[in-house]
Amino acid sequence: MGVTVGVDIGGTKIAVAVVDEVGTVIAQDRVKTPATDPTQIGDAVARSVNALKQEHDVEAVGVGAAGFVDAGRRTVLFAPNIKWVDEPLADRIEALVDLPVVIENDANAAAWGEFRFGAGADVDDMLLVTVGTGIGGGIIQGGRLDRGAYGVAGEIGHLRMVPAGIRCGCGQYGCWEQYASGRALVRETRDRIDAQMAQAAPLAALVDGDVSQITGQMVTEQAQKGDPLAIELIADVGRWLGEGIATLASVIDPSVVAIGGGVAKAGDLLMAPAKAAFVRSLSAPIYRPQAMLREASLGNDAGVIGAADLARTR
Ligand code: BGC
Ligand code: NA
Ligand code: ZN
Repeated sequence: MGVTVGVDIGGTKIAVAVVDEVGTVIAQDRVKTPATDPTQIGDAVARSVNALKQEHDVEAVGVGAAGFVDAGRRTVLFAPNIKWVDEPLADRIEALVDLPVVIENDANAAAWGEFRFGAGADVDDMLLVTVGTGIGGGIIQGGRLDRGAYGVAGEIGHLRMVPAGIRCGCGQYGCWEQYASGRALVRETRDRIDAQMAQAAPLAALVDGDVSQITGQMVTEQAQKGDPLAIELIADVGRWLGEGIATLASVIDPSVVAIGGGVAKAGDLLMAPAKAAFVRSLSAPIYRPQAMLREASLGNDAGVIGAADLARTR
């Protein structure tokens, strides 16, 4: 059996990998996401795929994209954090690479990867929550990826957590991803620096007071060095996460909730407050089996591995 290519398109970077049938990444490429013209994203993907195709016997391409993907798995209907509207991504890439292409939501692809080869490999019912720029979700029920009637099941980043809350890229207000994402972490950090809080001085010094330079990764690294404010900011994200996951457990009842994405690199600084808030917020917590919250185990590769496997079983 030949290999397949998995692609993971995020707001800042595109990862492309050749993956074998047991989920091992054999070769990979990484490029920046073209920011000004989103129609160029398909071209950039095709260039990477064509380069990898020279060296490997590629059967098909699976693409995880950070947005709402149609039920036919060919078009990105809308993306809150990339300027796509009705983007015919599969057609565009297929025309350039001459291979079958399937599109999947990025978090669905990552959930599939974790389910097949990672943090959910030992269970049948799993929720993956990816915490990056936004929040993504992938729901596996009874060993199957839940796509809903129109392809957009698992858009958990847009659960309304706060009535009339912060405006979201989806057009609504108070969505979960406005409170528990990398973007939220950056926003809250900038706020503290702007307010000239004494505790924010070490974080401000990292960027010479230029708050626009603050990144989530900086806050994580600072927290890992023991900075109390950075620790608190990550714990806040963790608390929001745990509360939202408790709400979701009322709907989907998973046995494992895996937490992945860039912000999950904070490890226990995020996971401990998330677990505490989860148990605190769960309905009837002592009368039911509780889902296990775990760190996702495939790291940055979950998306490409899952997308490649979905292409194989398309
Ligand atoms: C989008 C999802 C995506 C998630 C993570 C959200 O804003 O609505 O489609 O999975 O971000 O990239
Ligand atoms: Na999803
Ligand atoms: Zn939203």
